[in-house]
Amino acid sequence: SSLTTHFHPSVLQKDQNIPTQFIWPKEELVQTKEELNEPMIDLAGFFHGDVAATAAAAEQLRAGCEKHGFFQVTNHGVDEELIRAAQDEMDSLFKLSVDKKVSLQKMPGSLWGYSGAHSDRFSSNLPWKEMFSFQYDHGSAPEELLVVDYFNNVVGKEFEKTGLVYQKYCEAMKKLSLALFQLLAISLGIDREHYKKFFEDGSSIMRCNYYPACNEPNLTLGTGPHCDPTSLTILHQDQVGGLEVFSNNKWQSVRPRPNTLVINIGDTFMALSNGRYKSCLHRAAVHKGKERRSMVYFVNPKKDKVVKPPQDLVDQKGEKIKRKYPDFTWSKLLGFTQKHYRADDTT
Ligand code: SIN
Ligand code: FE2
Repeated sequence: SSLTTHFHPSVLQKDQNIPTQFIWPKEELVQTKEELNEPMIDLAGFFHGDVAATAAAAEQLRAGCEKHGFFQVTNHGVDEELIRAAQDEMDSLFKLSVDKKVSLQKMPGSLWGYSGAHSDRFSSNLPWKEMFSFQYDHGSAPEELLVVDYFNNVVGKEFEKTGLVYQKYCEAMKKLSLALFQLLAISLGIDREHYKKFFEDGSSIMRCNYYPACNEPNLTLGTGPHCDPTSLTILHQDQVGGLEVFSNNKWQSVRPRPNTLVINIGDTFMALSNGRYKSCLHRAAVHKGKERRSMVYFVNPKKDKVVKPPQDLVDQKGEKIKRKYPDFTWSKLLGFTQKHYRADDTT
């Protein structure tokens, strides 16, 4: 049956012991004792054009990005009802039958569909989760309709509403991400519109993560340690908790807070900032008797655009600062990531 080649944690959760493929090496499983909450950035003043509040927010953001590539935002302008609706739609996807999930399986190289852990790709360190991904183009309106079309035509007619909700969610995420690119530019002391312009015609990946309850949460991980190859990641976690960020040489947990979104810097933005901002090293834990859900929106540049830092981050006050990374394109990096990423499939 399909279960011999596809390990679906949601089916396996009733087992007393987890299959050995899900067991991670001890050194990867260090327990987390501390919490990481800083910086918590209130975006209200920035959105209202308040100069002092914007400068304060940019300063908080700079500190968080230099230290660990992570920050959280409140008053982010995304409708709470919409977030709740998007979160609720996840259940209809993950409660589908195993056969249906297998039929929606994400193909290698594709960014669309369902993915669980596959025994043919990994023989150990399987993540205790299931994912559903799709792409959202920032380009013209017809391209953006792909999300609704995909749900309607591929997942099934009964998923039209799901598609509409995710379409709207992606639109809201795109808007927030472009605002964050302005604040990132301000925080780096460069032209405020620089990154916003760069990403306006980009394309994003939306990913729903479902972490079933696990009988042995101390032996496995929901998502192994990794940095996102993407530029900016906007993450919404439910109230269960499990996200952990590596900072100050230790794993620290990010406590879920209502109406708060988590933002991570990814490898591509690290390059765009000429190494000034860190790509965030993070992972996710699972729980006994408690399932967890998260929604992740990854922002990427248009596929063939050359990724390089703005000149102002290379020539500073007449002094030439060394380029930290060579030019690359998102399509190159994505190809590389899909071939070489092992611990987790992040894209
Ligand atoms: C999370 O579920 O909190 C993190 C997922 C990820 O980084 O891919
Ligand atoms: Fe991630």
